Amino acid sequence: MADLFKNFIGGKWLRAKSDATFENRNPANRDDLIGVFPASTAEDVDAAVQAAKSAFATWRLVPAPKRGEILYRVGELLRNHKEEIARGMTREMGKILKETRGDVQEGIDTAFYVAGEGRRLFGETTPAELPDKFAMSVRMPVGVCALITPWNFPVAIPTWKMFPALLCGNTVVLKPAEDTPASAARLVEILAEAGMPPGVVNLVHGRGEEAGAALVRHPDVQLVSFTGSAAVGREIASVGGQLLKRVSLELGGKNAQIVMEDADLELAVEGALWGAFGTTGQRCTATSRLIVHRDVAQKMTDALMARSRQLKIGDGLDESTDMGPLINQAARDKVLNYISIGKQEGARLLIGGGIHETGACAKGYFFQPTIFDRVISKMRIAQEEIFGPVLSVIEIGSFDEAISVLNDSRYGLSSSIYTRDVSRACRAMRDIQAGITYINGPTIGAEVHLPFGGVKDTGNGHREAGTTVYDIFSEWKSVYIDYSGKLQKAQIDNN
Ligand code: UN1
Repeated sequence: MADLFKNFIGGKWLRAKSDATFENRNPANRDDLIGVFPASTAEDVDAAVQAAKSAFATWRLVPAPKRGEILYRVGELLRNHKEEIARGMTREMGKILKETRGDVQEGIDTAFYVAGEGRRLFGETTPAELPDKFAMSVRMPVGVCALITPWNFPVAIPTWKMFPALLCGNTVVLKPAEDTPASAARLVEILAEAGMPPGVVNLVHGRGEEAGAALVRHPDVQLVSFTGSAAVGREIASVGGQLLKRVSLELGGKNAQIVMEDADLELAVEGALWGAFGTTGQRCTATSRLIVHRDVAQKMTDALMARSRQLKIGDGLDESTDMGPLINQAARDKVLNYISIGKQEGARLLIGGGIHETGACAKGYFFQPTIFDRVISKMRIAQEEIFGPVLSVIEIGSFDEAISVLNDSRYGLSSSIYTRDVSRACRAMRDIQAGITYINGPTIGAEVHLPFGGVKDTGNGHREAGTTVYDIFSEWKSVYIDYSGKLQKAQIDNN
């Protein structure tokens, strides 16, 4: 019998009101059923939002340091259960154990970092323009926050959103991706175990088109924070725009690594391999373009091909595996389609390009690490987010050309340059259009205490993580205290 999972609403584990369910299977082995989950509808969403709304009345009044203390406990529990959660996550979404351990670690880091913020959450004080008057600004919670999260970081991304939201005094309804509901359920269990009062954290499983859409439209939801595709992000933004909700979006990327002729090539190869094929290329921050100086292009691609051949593809639960499967059939079809697009466009397939189904891999959605060269910037494989282990190599002849090719993208999340020249590194920091730039490091590896997000179509101007995330999850209030005992008129009585 498959495990039957439930929604978590108002502190109780509940079935969907319609009793409808959906299945979730291991992408490394379709025969392995992870569980059966509620396919929630607008009715379930409404119950969760009502629970969050009534819990908000008291949670907002809990002192922020106390809210932080619960998050410390969450961090401790995540640390104690790190291995078990990582294993469950690998089974659920395929990435290798090293990476799922990293995913949980990112949640632990976020818990401790955000918990400390409970004793800061600074506002400002400033002199008032009139005598006997005091002025300050304070952060207030926003209300009920809808958090809609992707499957590629099933614990880390929900924690990036949820922990700062809770610390600020908001209550939340989490709608995790259909491909990773069990990992989200485990996280929510831990939050409850740590002492989150009923209704503060609610979990609703289901399809984006149904449960997600109902959540975004719900009149009692004040804020929507979404990480996922640009197409869905646009829809959420337009609905949110109509309803005047606060919307924070973290969308696609087409991240590039530049390798100049003066780079440490071995380091650059290591970086590109990790950036392109880590998480099977399924990160928003994955390296999908390699912009390489023509003097070192051959050396670079030879080394990359040799190293890619050695990557062991398989079940991520096996410690010796380097690369797990893609998330599902649709993802594999999409990647395959881009392989034929790349060929049609005239790029040269250097390695990979096919599904990997030898031996035990036959039952999963495995794909070969793939490299195209002779790619030019206007090709679709250089412009569109593939979300798979596909690297497009673009040759350039100068630093300026490298920067302009890198910037020739509708996205601007992460970026990287390998060079030993300090001036080039500094120019790259200044001129690359992206939210994140790495010097001599790959495009992946963001740390939780720095802002995370991107420019252009990658988002709508917000930054998660860092100190900036509190600007998403709180409203500024300016407070004036007049102790003069008389009516004082700003701008009028002060000249
Ligand atoms: C994502 O790809 O959606 O920098 C998040 C990184 C990770 C986070 C990635 N720390 O790749």
